[in-house]
Amino acid sequence: MAHPSLPIAGFRAEILEKVRHNPAVIITGGTGCGKSSQVPQFILDEILKLNNPKQIVVTQPRKIASMSVARFVAEQRGEPFPERKIRQNRKVRQNLTSFSASLKLRFFQQSRVGYSVKYYYHPPKPTGSILFCTTGSVLAMLKKDPLLSNISHIILDEVCPINCWKFLFCCLF
Ligand SMILES: Nc1ncnc2c1ncn2[C@@H]1O[C@H](COP(=O)(O)OP(=O)(O)OP(=O)(O)O)[C@@H](O)[C@H]1O
Ligand SMILES: [Mg+2]
Repeated sequence: MAHPSLPIAGFRAEILEKVRHNPAVIITGGTGCGKSSQVPQFILDEILKLNNPKQIVVTQPRKIASMSVARFVAEQRGEPFPERKIRQNRKVRQNLTSFSASLKLRFFQQSRVGYSVKYYYHPPKPTGSILFCTTGSVLAMLKKDPLLSNISHIILDEVCPINCWKFLFCCLF
């Protein structure tokens, strides 16, 4: 469950209401109020009430931020979060169908929170989960599956005019 003591907790119902009824929502708030760590959890708790929840993807501008917020959120929810991560490069990604790789994936995929950044992969459950990643990872996902059929929500954290436009332009063209 999300942390009830952070300022953003008081806006939970309003945020969920806006997210439910609008294709895009902009959330602003003071530093440390809980935007990055709590909003994905609000949405996760909601979609877990559905029969077939999909995945929530949260982009962070930096690799380190994706990894650290994923760990923080997993700890907050009491999710298992193994220390080990899968080192990924093109060759490893191509081999992810191999038997040992699928065993490895199953070892990680017990958690509802994970991350995917350049070189490292800490996969969460494929459905009903939060995946923290960098914008580049989402663009790679878009190339593979342009409809992002396994994803129900995308949260672009820390958008600034530069990286937001870069991302939107890449999606559109
Ligand atoms: N990786 C972490 N380790 C320890 N505490 C953390 C971590 N990430 C966030 N916190 C704590 O959780 C609270 C909420 O942080 P969060 O990052 O969700 O806020 P935020 O609104 O996104 O802030 P910002 O505008 O600075 O990005 C803060 O008190 C912060 O100190
Ligand atoms: Mg933040």
